[in-house]
Amino acid sequence: MSTKATVEKLVSLCKRRGLVFQSSEIYGGIGGFWDYGPLGVELKNNIKQAWWKAVVQERDDVVGQDASIIMNPTVWRASGHLDTFADPMVDCKECKKRFRADELVGAAPAGTHGHEAAAKVARCPECGGELTEPRMFNLMFRTYVGPVEDDASTAYLRPETAQGIFVNFANILATTRKKLPFGIAQIGKAFRNEITPGNFIFRDREFEQMEIEYFVKPGTDEQWHQHWVEERHNWYLRLGMRKENVRVRRLEPEEQAHYAKDTYEVEYLFPMGWSELEGIANRTDFDLRRHAEFSGRDLEYFDEESGEHIVPYVIEPSAGVDRLLMAFLVDAYDEEEVRNETRVILRLHKELAPVKVAVLPLSRNEKLVPSAREVWTLVRKHWMSQYDDAQSIGRRYRRQDEVGTPLCVTVDFDTLEDQAVTIRERDTMEQVRVPIAGLVDALRERLETA
Ligand code: GAP
Repeated sequence: MSTKATVEKLVSLCKRRGLVFQSSEIYGGIGGFWDYGPLGVELKNNIKQAWWKAVVQERDDVVGQDASIIMNPTVWRASGHLDTFADPMVDCKECKKRFRADELVGAAPAGTHGHEAAAKVARCPECGGELTEPRMFNLMFRTYVGPVEDDASTAYLRPETAQGIFVNFANILATTRKKLPFGIAQIGKAFRNEITPGNFIFRDREFEQMEIEYFVKPGTDEQWHQHWVEERHNWYLRLGMRKENVRVRRLEPEEQAHYAKDTYEVEYLFPMGWSELEGIANRTDFDLRRHAEFSGRDLEYFDEESGEHIVPYVIEPSAGVDRLLMAFLVDAYDEEEVRNETRVILRLHKELAPVKVAVLPLSRNEKLVPSAREVWTLVRKHWMSQYDDAQSIGRRYRRQDEVGTPLCVTVDFDTLEDQAVTIRERDTMEQVRVPIAGLVDALRERLETA
């Protein structure tokens, strides 16, 4: 992580610059829900596009899909979520604060683990009060489909996008004629009624996931698991995350989800410590077998080579967009002293930067405005850009640095004579003069080459 980034500084920057707002803020907000402003939605879209490009567009073995959020409720019986997707919850009898019992493990006596440890944490970490016994709490949000609110109409907001892929396995196999190994990718909203949402957008109740279910022949699963761990780890590094802030950790047997044979996590050094960015699990044939059993449908794959019907194993790289967005911000955040002032910079990778180019007339002088507007018209066809003519040029550079804009183009009085403009780079603050006729090429060279 950047040593200069704190959660407080990020929250403040995100609010001030229109990246992330508290949901329904004018009514006091609602815990675990967030809105993305004009720059936040650009950053989020860029993260999703970079992921889709790497895992769908540039590969010949992964296709995309987009499933509905509310599904037939039997999906959640088959997947095991109705029975096991629960966290242990404890309440303080004194201050009434609520905690996830497994998160109080750090305070448990040495030599105890997991829920056993949680049960042994006798006192509230806030006020020292007595805690209730842990109770299991299912994290799925419930709703009703249709006008009658009864058991038969109960449905759930999906807690992971993955199940939408498993239930479409046969449809996609039939329509794409893919051979094993192949994957299905999806980006979409997921919902979890987290007991303790927090750390800004790290743990939310509504968030977006980017998931791949990669189907392989049993016996090749461990090799493909390693492939995906490497691919996904490298993706973060390619997008500029500092090597020392990203690590891969193999989960202990007691940390595995109910469906997993083995799981690795890509973790990031957030201000609150190393935490999960993405899970990469070997889900075996658990989900396809369960859906075949509950639906009565054939979810096997016919292997022409061996003449056998097999149930594929699944490797699942699963990342949260909001959590990644926070990690990219933490990693990019920097402060430096320039002419006795603190310059705040988001050193975001140019592919992720919400705005690629800012066009800045030196002043609002009426002679400059037509040229500056012309330059903006030229640029905005190619990249997300901004036109800013408010306050001094120095302040405008700072404003763009703070939101990570890689390039500023300044239109000054010389432009009227020489038909040239100045490109200023965010990281080096270097300036170079280029003719307007060659501006798009000059910007492209700086923005689109690795
Ligand atoms: N389908 C597998 C699955 O959902 P998970 O580890 O529960 O696995 C995958 O979630 C990823 O989704 C996490 O690594 C994280 O990035 C993101 N995620 C999970 N719960 C989240 C939450 N409450 N808020 C934000 N992101 C979350």
